Amino acid sequence: MTIFDEVNRWEKTEGAYIFSSIIDVSSPVILDYGCGCGNYSFAAANAFGRKCKVYAVDINKQCLEYISVKAKDEKINCIIPVEGKEDYRHDFDSEFFDLVIYVDMFHGEEKTYNGLHRFVMIEEAKRTLKDGGILAVLPFHLSNFRDKNKKKCKYSYKKLIEEISEYGFKYIEKDLQGIHFEKVYSSYYQQKGGVTFDSLERGKFLIFEKK
Ligand SMILES: C[S@@+](CC[C@H](N)C(=O)[O-])C[C@H]1O[C@@H](n2cnc3c(N)ncnc32)[C@H](O)[C@@H]1O
Repeated sequence: MTIFDEVNRWEKTEGAYIFSSIIDVSSPVILDYGCGCGNYSFAAANAFGRKCKVYAVDINKQCLEYISVKAKDEKINCIIPVEGKEDYRHDFDSEFFDLVIYVDMFHGEEKTYNGLHRFVMIEEAKRTLKDGGILAVLPFHLSNFRDKNKKKCKYSYKKLIEEISEYGFKYIEKDLQGIHFEKVYSSYYQQKGGVTFDSLERGKFLIFEKK
């Protein structure tokens, strides 16, 4: 079994469980913003028996192409790849989504607003979620965050929860773990001999309801 087989298995089992356990809507409309290779988009599609719509947004066209090919191979029609914009804003209508997913998106990036994109993304989640809709955040690289003054600082889950709550979200404590898939697709780690599925970093999903 390759690591990609294990990732596919995760998307159909533990990954799907994350989303089926946080929303109780039979055909939800979902946004996975900065979806990368789409592991969380596929997990969400599997969570709802593929009766949902998952908008998988990324600025990297290669990621979108990878997702299109994989969805076709797996005969999944409910994932819609969409190209993102530089400014992290998007054209989806207000109160459009039941669930917004942000995985590994909040740490500082030198090229794009020095990390301030996080605040735009929280505003966009607030705008585009329906009332009672769910924001699911899986943060990594917490030591490489920036505050509103663009100053590098170490974040904790508590600090991030307080920050997101200030935008009009209610935190809901759930014991849900997600996986940091970055190394699976990294040529650096592939050249070094690859990584094992079990060695991938795990992190806590922070779940919020739009008030
Ligand atoms: C660290 S990766 C996270 C990928 C994915 N969420 C995951 O955890 O597997 C960050 C992703 O954000 C995408 N990205 C960067 N800027 C973006 C933007 N302005 N709009 C949409 N996606 C963007 C990158 O192309 C990359 O795929």
